[in-house]
Amino acid sequence: MRRPIIAGNWKMYKTARETVEFFEQFKPLVKISHHCDIVIAAPFTVLVDAVKAAEGSNIAIAAQDLFWEAEGAYTGEISPLMLVDVGCRYTLVGHSERRQLFGETNQNVNKKIKAALSVNLTPIVCIGEMLEEREANQTQKVIQTQFLEGFAGLTAQAFSRIILAYEPVWAIGTGRTATPEIAGEVHEYIRGLADASFGQPGARNLRILYGGSVKPDNIKGLMAQAHVDGALVGGASLNADSFGSIVNF
Ligand code: 13P
Repeated sequence: MRRPIIAGNWKMYKTARETVEFFEQFKPLVKISHHCDIVIAAPFTVLVDAVKAAEGSNIAIAAQDLFWEAEGAYTGEISPLMLVDVGCRYTLVGHSERRQLFGETNQNVNKKIKAALSVNLTPIVCIGEMLEEREANQTQKVIQTQFLEGFAGLTAQAFSRIILAYEPVWAIGTGRTATPEIAGEVHEYIRGLADASFGQPGARNLRILYGGSVKPDNIKGLMAQAHVDGALVGGASLNADSFGSIVNF
């Protein structure tokens, strides 16, 4: 059985004070939630506060991005070791907002995944198609390219340490969730790609999260799908009550 993961992606929201307040409200809501792993991806500036606030709880902290070099003259970038140093255990890689707005390529994603794994940070790698691509029946092709290029050169052992998130771009922040059936279908396709590239048991054990307008009222239907192993939640993770309800689906 694959252990579910419910992860929140705060994107560019929350100050240090808001972070502390969130955890004060959120921790009691998930104190006895042992059925899943709980992760929050916070902005760089509040990672220290989030790690401190989550100390001793069942909540792990993630970064939202990283750079692949260990150190150097890279103004504005954050290295994998710096994230470990402040207590992060996970990092998002290749979020569609990074791909669309900041020129993230599959080749960069590949380097970031390897860099994260080299310091034992668990990458949550995001893939997904845009609306035009879905409408042009290109979904599988887009996903396949992101998968093959993003995971190029990884061993089966390295791949076994990765978490995937399927986030159809047309469902992000739009209130337009993929139906459980659409999500289930793409997740099954992704598991097939994992099998073809890395074999079993890697494909069977791979956890694939769904992301895109996940809310307290649609999480149950999504989680009922055989190949949906959790969620990556944007907007609804900013509020302790709504994220608490999603964790306790
Ligand atoms: P929303 O849940 O706000 O649609 O965002 C999804 C997302 O991008 C999570 O990474």
